[in-house]
Amino acid sequence: MHMRLTALVLAIILALPYQPSQARKVKKFVHQTVAVPQVEKKVIPIETNNTSLVLLVHQNGQLETAHYGAPISHPEQFLGAGVNTEDYNGFRGASYPATGGRYIGEPALHVKYADGTHNTELYYVSHQVTSREGCVTTAIDLKDYVTELQVRLVYDAYLAEDVLVQHTEILNGGKAPVQLLNYASSSLYLDADDYLLTHFYGAWATDMQMESEVLGHDMKVIESRRGTQATQGNNPSFLLSLNTREFSETSGEVVAGALAWSGNFRLSFEKDDAHRLNVLAGISPFSSAYPLAAGNTFVTPEMIYTYSFSGAGGASRNLHRWARKYGVYGGGKVNPTLLNSWEGAYFTFTTETLLRMMDDAAGMGLEMFVLDDGWFGNDYPRNNDDAGLGDWEVNVSKLPEGIEYLASHAHSKGLKFGIWIEPEMVNPRSNLAQAHPEWVVQSPGREIYQGRNQWVLDLSNPAVEDFVFGIFDRTMQLAPGIDYIKWDCNRVVQSFGSPYLEADQDKFFVDYCQGLYNVMRRIREKYPQVIVQCCSSGGGRVDYGALKYCNEVWTSDNTDGLSRVYMQYATSLIYPACIMGSHVSTVPNHQTGNVTPLKFRFDVACAGRLGLELQPKYFTEQDRITVDRCIASYKQYRDLVFGGDLYRLASPYDGSYYGLMYVSPDKRRAVVFTYCIHFEPRTVGGKVFRLQGLDSQLSYSVVEQNVDNSCWWGNSSTFTGDFLMNGGFNPTLYGLYTSAVFLLEAR
Ligand code: DGJ
Repeated sequence: MHMRLTALVLAIILALPYQPSQARKVKKFVHQTVAVPQVEKKVIPIETNNTSLVLLVHQNGQLETAHYGAPISHPEQFLGAGVNTEDYNGFRGASYPATGGRYIGEPALHVKYADGTHNTELYYVSHQVTSREGCVTTAIDLKDYVTELQVRLVYDAYLAEDVLVQHTEILNGGKAPVQLLNYASSSLYLDADDYLLTHFYGAWATDMQMESEVLGHDMKVIESRRGTQATQGNNPSFLLSLNTREFSETSGEVVAGALAWSGNFRLSFEKDDAHRLNVLAGISPFSSAYPLAAGNTFVTPEMIYTYSFSGAGGASRNLHRWARKYGVYGGGKVNPTLLNSWEGAYFTFTTETLLRMMDDAAGMGLEMFVLDDGWFGNDYPRNNDDAGLGDWEVNVSKLPEGIEYLASHAHSKGLKFGIWIEPEMVNPRSNLAQAHPEWVVQSPGREIYQGRNQWVLDLSNPAVEDFVFGIFDRTMQLAPGIDYIKWDCNRVVQSFGSPYLEADQDKFFVDYCQGLYNVMRRIREKYPQVIVQCCSSGGGRVDYGALKYCNEVWTSDNTDGLSRVYMQYATSLIYPACIMGSHVSTVPNHQTGNVTPLKFRFDVACAGRLGLELQPKYFTEQDRITVDRCIASYKQYRDLVFGGDLYRLASPYDGSYYGLMYVSPDKRRAVVFTYCIHFEPRTVGGKVFRLQGLDSQLSYSVVEQNVDNSCWWGNSSTFTGDFLMNGGFNPTLYGLYTSAVFLLEAR
């Protein structure tokens, strides 16, 4: 039996036609090399008033980061330094390391060419320096020495703020398309004995939690793959305290960085065997091998850096000053106090409910009313979160008089009027989902998963861009004088894919974010004055990319005063107070169940852009005294919150007290916020807060706000700046959730 089977198999094989071997024929191969160009050795100093980045061009064309830190009076002294090209572990210190040549570390740039090869070796070609008011730009052109791949590194040095903003432009100068596998915005080499990395993680209602760790060797990566809501898991920002294992607010050298990108991002920190640290920052390469056609240029997002010699506090102040002037739309300008309808009414309201809320808002001295979710959808009314997104017409049974009626009532009460939209999303239960199923982010043949009963619209598609812009545009036309738009985004991208991109799915994540920015740009061209709040289930879009177009963020959906202390502290490390939407809500808190005193909630919210988010008709008469006082006093000092310098006095992450202050640029006025967040049984003498940032020679009157009896013995007296900063002051914050706010004015 067995023999017969073998014979049969043999017969079949012999009957098959002869096939020549499929192995590739190896042509006679001659390895030809192109000579590495030799260039003149030179230094490129990139300086701000108090910092200096020195780049060194070696004779073999390699560009190295020789120094970042304190100013160097004669940077040309670096010319003597040699390049470590023979290093067994590859060239390190490259200002923009590319996969290829001797470089075997994590690349800033990794290109796959049409012939399947992966090597890029950049050498220096030229550089140009240009300047405008307050900023010097250095653009350095590099080129691969074999292919026509060109890279331009652009550094904007903001002189007074000590901030460097870097981005990179990658040009495919060849004749065939290439694929960008890694394309970081920046690479920064640092040299220190220790690196303490502080970064921010979070989740819904626990946004921006601070975490610090001493970096070991190899690689630490902070990444977002969420597509939308990119910052709710991790924020694209960090602080690196150098030569220390302790976080210090006031001393030591600190580098802080933040990426201006609202999509998937990646920050990597690679410490090599010589203990040097390479920081790469940019778009996440996750599922994003970006095709670059011949002749096209890819422009990366901007990476913002600062260097401080006075701890984290100095780094934050540099970033805040830069942000107020250059980084935030309308930065530093005071935005109105407001009442938002969400936690007070949710989806359940009538015109009457809203009119009454507006009357109360005006009575309390607030300046704007914001109508949140629930005002739209007729075939699929938005009465809860399972229907209506996408159908942006006014719900006629809830609001038969329309939005114009509401807005004009607000205006008649002296209030501005704002309204909520979530234009990137669609509920399956909507007319839009039925009319345009091809606009939904999806992968062929696969389940389109829902989150909060909704799908994501595909902003990589220009038709969707137009639609999303149209939502904003039409909402602005709902009534004359819409002053504020809250732009929400309550869903991450899952099972990603774009019917529009067809075979180019690798472009999805990048093009989505660029589509969002295209819409934002159009909005700003048409509506330069409207205040836009960037909300994404709270803090899902807290980044300097979105802030180029948005005046503020909704810091978190968690409005509990205690939770806010931690989130606002951490947010303040990177972002200025002028962007922090901060609302007083009811108790027990709707997210945490926590109960804190009304004054504590106000004192926390007043450290950002103050708002209320509750049903004011439930206030008692006693509450109203506190409310009216707190709002009135906030208006006296809020210019300091929006435009002053922040000094953090005590960290909630360290103990039982939190303290911070904002000081006017001329140091003549300041507001100090102090809080007790854990009960301390032995605080009879009061917690000593040492103030900062005052003029030691000036005398300041110190007046506690919103109380009849102050908790500080020195209240209403005058003290010198040096006393307040060195002797300190010790309000008796005796008891959990006690808080005190003081206004300081130079006499
Ligand atoms: C999530 C936001 O963060 C809230 O403030 C609120 O606007 C809801 N969405 C409305 O659905």
